[in-house]
Amino acid sequence: MRRLSPPAPNRWRNFYHFVETDSTNEEAIRFIERGVTSGIVAADRQTTGHGRAGKIWHSPEGNLYVSFFERTTAEQALDRAKIAGLAAFDTVAAFADPSLLRLKWPNDLLADGKKLCGVLIQHLTRGKDLFTVTGIGINIETPDKRAFPWRWEPTSLDEVSGISITRVAVFRELVAALTKWIEASPEAVDAAYAAHVSWMLNARISWTAGEKDLDGTIVRFNDRSRRLVVRTDKGDEEELAAGDISSILIS
Ligand code: BTN
Repeated sequence: MRRLSPPAPNRWRNFYHFVETDSTNEEAIRFIERGVTSGIVAADRQTTGHGRAGKIWHSPEGNLYVSFFERTTAEQALDRAKIAGLAAFDTVAAFADPSLLRLKWPNDLLADGKKLCGVLIQHLTRGKDLFTVTGIGINIETPDKRAFPWRWEPTSLDEVSGISITRVAVFRELVAALTKWIEASPEAVDAAYAAHVSWMLNARISWTAGEKDLDGTIVRFNDRSRRLVVRTDKGDEEELAAGDISSILIS
């Protein structure tokens, strides 16, 4: 398997590559706890890769598992979910037909209605500094569908593009796309993100929040797309933050 290497120079300065680790996000957190302020962590496979809401991210060899960490302001930290979603979209669109791709709020990337990429953002304070870890998993070869307990069926770049794509090429595209969106103005990020998630407006959704399964219609996004407003079937409006929801199904 060809070793990953990021383009140099890049804004994260340090690069750590593991053949196997528990989770690149957990490695990133350990580096921050040891005093490293910025870096990229990549692994060929993860033994306990994880996603949002405590889900497992099945991580066999062949796909991309990478976490970027750096010091951020509180405001930058809040925008990182949108930025990571935009970067994931652009990365995959460099290899696959963009008309097949949908960015699903907050930052799942679907291709042909199946899950191709996942983003897990974690924050950590150390003294008075706030650090943000942006973990991104992109399926390049299709993962074992039986070992992938998501409500969305998984797919991969190879499956969607019909050609074999190297991890190294995807990684380099991701570093470039993430750099571009981190360095873009908040206005540019908001405009691009709002355009990407607008396909969800008026969609019927079912979502799970805690123990509750609810149904409704998406009416708008609030707070610079950080919150989703849903009209429930009882006619009430509910504002949802990404952290309140463990899954959203769009019908
Ligand atoms: C999700 O869709 O809920 C997020 C999945 C995020 C998976 C990536 S793989 C690299 C990084 N390390 C992890 O343990 N998780 C993220």
